[in-house]
Amino acid sequence: MKSILRKIAQLIYKNGIKPVIFKIDPEKVHDKGVELGVFFGKYRFTKKTTSFLFNYSDKSLEQNIFGIKFKNPVGLAAGYDKYARMIQIIGDLGFGFEEVGSISDKPSAGNPKPRLWRLIKSRGLIVGYGLNNDGAQAAAEQIKNLKLEIPIGISIAKTNSPKVCSLEESITDVVSGFKTLAGYGDYFTFNISCPNTLEEGLFYNPKNLEIALKEISALKISKPIFIKMSPDLSLQVVDEIIEISRKYGIKGFVLSNITKHREMMKNLDKEELKKIDHGKGGISGKPVEDLADNLIKYVYQKTRGEFIIIGCGGIFSAEDAYKKIRLGASLVQLITGMIFEGPQLIGQINEGLAKLVKKDGFKNISEAIGIDVK
Ligand SMILES: Cc1cc2nc3c(=O)[nH]c(=O)nc-3n(C[C@H](O)[C@H](O)[C@H](O)COP(=O)(O)O)c2cc1C
Repeated sequence: MKSILRKIAQLIYKNGIKPVIFKIDPEKVHDKGVELGVFFGKYRFTKKTTSFLFNYSDKSLEQNIFGIKFKNPVGLAAGYDKYARMIQIIGDLGFGFEEVGSISDKPSAGNPKPRLWRLIKSRGLIVGYGLNNDGAQAAAEQIKNLKLEIPIGISIAKTNSPKVCSLEESITDVVSGFKTLAGYGDYFTFNISCPNTLEEGLFYNPKNLEIALKEISALKISKPIFIKMSPDLSLQVVDEIIEISRKYGIKGFVLSNITKHREMMKNLDKEELKKIDHGKGGISGKPVEDLADNLIKYVYQKTRGEFIIIGCGGIFSAEDAYKKIRLGASLVQLITGMIFEGPQLIGQINEGLAKLVKKDGFKNISEAIGIDVK
C-alpha cells in the first residue's frame, strides 16, 4: 500500500512538480525546499503525514556504528541543509541520518550568485556555493534546543574568506569551529574537499593536514570524526590522508565530494555542459558516481573495515546505493538524486535495499559491506 503511495508521489513529482520547478532558478528552488522542510518539521500532524507517506522501516537495514543507532543507511549529504534548519523533518522523510553544513567557524556569504546550475541530461548539478553559512556559533544556537530524532553529523570546513588565509589562521579557524560545535550532534566530518573556496586543496598537503588533525585531536572530542575527500585526488594523496588519519584517530571517510575533473567523468553530456559551464564549481550526481565508487573501492581495499566509509555521489536508486555498500560503504548519502527523482526516493531506496539484502540471503545490510572487493 505504502509503496503504491510512493509510486504515485513519484509520478506527481516527475510529471507535475519537476517540470515546473526545473524552470525556476535552482538556488531559489533549493531555498524553497528548505522552507517547506522547516514548515513540515514544525507540527505533529505534518510530521506524522510525511512519515506515513515517505518513511520505510525494516530491521535488516538497522546498524549500530560507534554506538550510534542508524535506522537505515541512507543519509542526507552535507550541503542541502547548510543552516541546520531541517533537522526536525529529515527522519520523517525516511532518511536514517543527516549531515548538516558545511559550517565554518565564522559566517560566510559564499560566492556571488548564480552559483548553482542543473545539468538535466547528465542528471547532475554544477555547485559553486562556496560554503555560505552563518558560522559555528549560530549553528550551535540552532541545534542546541532541538530533539534529535536521527543521528546528526556536523560537517565543518575552513571559513571561506580572504581574512582567513595563512596556514596558521586556517588551522586556528578550523579548530575553533570544532571547539564551538563539539557538544552537538553525533559525529563530525572535516570537509577538506570543497572545490569552491579560496584555499582549495590546503589540507591535501600532508604536512598541513597533519598539523590540523593534531590540533583537532588535542580537543579530545568524544564523537567520531570523518574526513570528506574529493574524488579528484591522486591515489598518492589518498594514501597520505589514510596514513595521517590513522595517526590521529580519524574514524572514517565520506567518499566523496563533487568533482572538478570534467574530462574524467562518464555520464556527462558534453554539449549540455558546454552551454552552462563556467569552469567554476564542482559537479554532483551521475557524473561523479563512478569516481566516487572507485574511491570507495580503493579505500576499502586498503583498509578493510579499519575505517567506516560513507559512500556518496550519484545515488538515484536502491541499486546505486547497494553498489556502494558492496564496494565497502557502511552508510550512504545523497542530494542530487532527491532533487531529480523527488522526496519519495528515500523510502523507495530503503525498500529496495531491504529486498536486495533478502535476495542475497543476508539478515542485515552490514553483511553486504565490501563483499564485491577482493
Ligand atoms: C547544492 C549542493 C551543495 C553542497 N554543499 C556541500 C557542502 O557544503 N559541504 C560538503 O561537504 N558537500 C557539499 N555538497 C556535496 C554533497 O554533499 C555530495 O558530496 C555530492 O553532491 C555528491 O552527492 P550527490 O550526487 O548525491 O549529490 C553539496 C552538493 C550540492 C548538490
